[in-house]
Amino acid sequence: MKIILLGPPGSGKGTQSKLLINHYNIQIVSIGDILRSYKENNKLGKKIKEKISIGKLISDQLIIKIVKETFKKNNISKNFLLDGFPRTIDQAIALKEMKIKINYIIELIISDDDIIKRLNGRLIHLPSGRTYHTIYNPPKIKNKDDITGENLIFRDDDQVKVIKNRLVEYYKFHKPITNFYKKEAKLKNIKYCQINADSDIANVNKKIKNFLKKNKDQINNV
Ligand code: AP5
Ligand code: MG
Repeated sequence: MKIILLGPPGSGKGTQSKLLINHYNIQIVSIGDILRSYKENNKLGKKIKEKISIGKLISDQLIIKIVKETFKKNNISKNFLLDGFPRTIDQAIALKEMKIKINYIIELIISDDDIIKRLNGRLIHLPSGRTYHTIYNPPKIKNKDDITGENLIFRDDDQVKVIKNRLVEYYKFHKPITNFYKKEAKLKNIKYCQINADSDIANVNKKIKNFLKKNKDQINNV
């Protein structure tokens, strides 16, 4: 099971990723979580933080390097989910060149208005990347992570001005990637599915699992 989860900021990629990796017992590569783990006390960490804080994408060169290193370091090969990668056509091509075969592309669809509502109330547990929402998905104890009891924080880039920049970046690069994977789907190399993500978390999760169940064993490179 090799899955890519696509979708705009706030569509629920992180939320659904955590549910899916627990359910299927697969590994995750979340580029956003990896980038947030870089410390600011060096040039590279500072540069990453700066770019994220204004809602701009990090260079393809660096992201591809991080992905390669992560796959190697964590010995990722069989079952995995990619959250937040690829985000540009060059990243998608690099992934193919790495000979990392993908079985399923799941794209979450949601309106910009809902995105703003979701990101405005988001809380995260920085070490694990677990995500909550003050209204839609509150933690059991206010501002505390359900598992560790540690503090939750708001992300710096979850301010309306920055969210708007992130959306501009997303729409600028998104179309070529979907076209690329739609072509792959026509060749029956992958299964591609768009999922309406405007219902609650459990319902979106059910739709994703139904898609995976229905398409199991129906592609060339499983
Ligand atoms: P990243 O961390 O990946 O951010 P993003 O793509 O902007 O996506 P988000 O994490 O904001 O949203 P999400 O879809 O994960 O939603 P979530 O599940 O949290 O990347 C951050 C930055 O890093 C980028 O801006 C860029 O600078 C850089 N970067 C990352 N990858 C890169 C790459 N490949 N190339 C270059 N640069 C890269 O949900 C959001 C909220 O909604 C939560 O509060 C959640 O509880 C709630 N929620 C979720 N689902 C539902 C639901 N169904 N109903 C109600 N509420 C819901
Ligand atoms: Mg995320």
